[in-house]
Amino acid sequence: MKISNAIAAVVTGGASGLGEATARGLAATGAKVAIFDMNAPVGEAVAKEIGGIFCKVDVTSDDEVHAAFAKARTAHGQERILVNCAGIANGIKTASRNKTDGSTSRFPMKDFERVVQINLLGTFRCIAAAAQGMLELDALDDGERGVIICTASVAAQDGQMGQAAYAASKAGVLGMTLPIARDLMAEGVRINTILPGLFLTPMMRGLPENVQVALGSSVPFPKRLGAPEEYAALAMHMISNAYLNGEAVRLDGAIRLQPR
Ligand SMILES: NC(=O)c1ccc[n+]([C@@H]2O[C@H](COP(=O)([O-])OP(=O)(O)OC[C@H]3O[C@@H](n4cnc5c(N)ncnc54)[C@H](O)[C@@H]3O)[C@@H](O)[C@H]2O)c1
Repeated sequence: MKISNAIAAVVTGGASGLGEATARGLAATGAKVAIFDMNAPVGEAVAKEIGGIFCKVDVTSDDEVHAAFAKARTAHGQERILVNCAGIANGIKTASRNKTDGSTSRFPMKDFERVVQINLLGTFRCIAAAAQGMLELDALDDGERGVIICTASVAAQDGQMGQAAYAASKAGVLGMTLPIARDLMAEGVRINTILPGLFLTPMMRGLPENVQVALGSSVPFPKRLGAPEEYAALAMHMISNAYLNGEAVRLDGAIRLQPR
């Protein structure tokens, strides 16, 4: 799909990090961008800078998600692009509580549920809402109606100690990619998933510089953290390349996460 002025896009988690870089990239390429995020002050500022709109939404809420899509469609028309970046790293704070092993402390179910609610069910909720609208659109060249990008993580395949909830939520995103591509194949809606490695987003910037350098040098090549713009470039390639469908791509400098 050609990203141009005619195309409306929704980016969840677009106030920060990977989503923000993608929102900026899409807007710079001519798309009309709606940022869906919980963080209103930052999301509004980014939306204003890129000439888009901001919709305050918690992706765990059906009502908020539907209200946000309605607001975005009133402003920009039905979206043809959805990029899902809203997510949280983990609901667990201390190393000892991270372990699945009950002898230290059980992985709290409410934290496990929260991670799955946001990362997996929140992603599916937005996909379902977007797809419903996309099906009403006329097809473009190649019979295409819409494109959906999801964000999993390399933790979906090599999750570390303490990452049971996060890895499960991201493996869910990975696992639903092909069946959703199949569900929507007759209607011309594609879906692809990115598995980022270690990216320099606000979450990482909060770590001490020496930790950032150590994490960066653990990457085989290039020996650094990924730039959010590199994620955005892949997302936009996946949108543009009509033959890429039902696929998941690691974007990770060849890193394979160790057990801890
Ligand atoms: N940064 C990395 O190294 C990395 C690696 C692998 C995967 N990821 C994934 O990429 C995605 C983006 O990560 P990031 O590093 O840009 O994080 P980030 O914290 O910079 O951005 C995430 C955004 O999602 C929003 N958000 C969180 N919960 C939400 C909810 N319930 N409803 C709506 N918005 C919500 C936040 O407000 C924030 O603006 C996440 O899904 C994350 O798991 C990141």
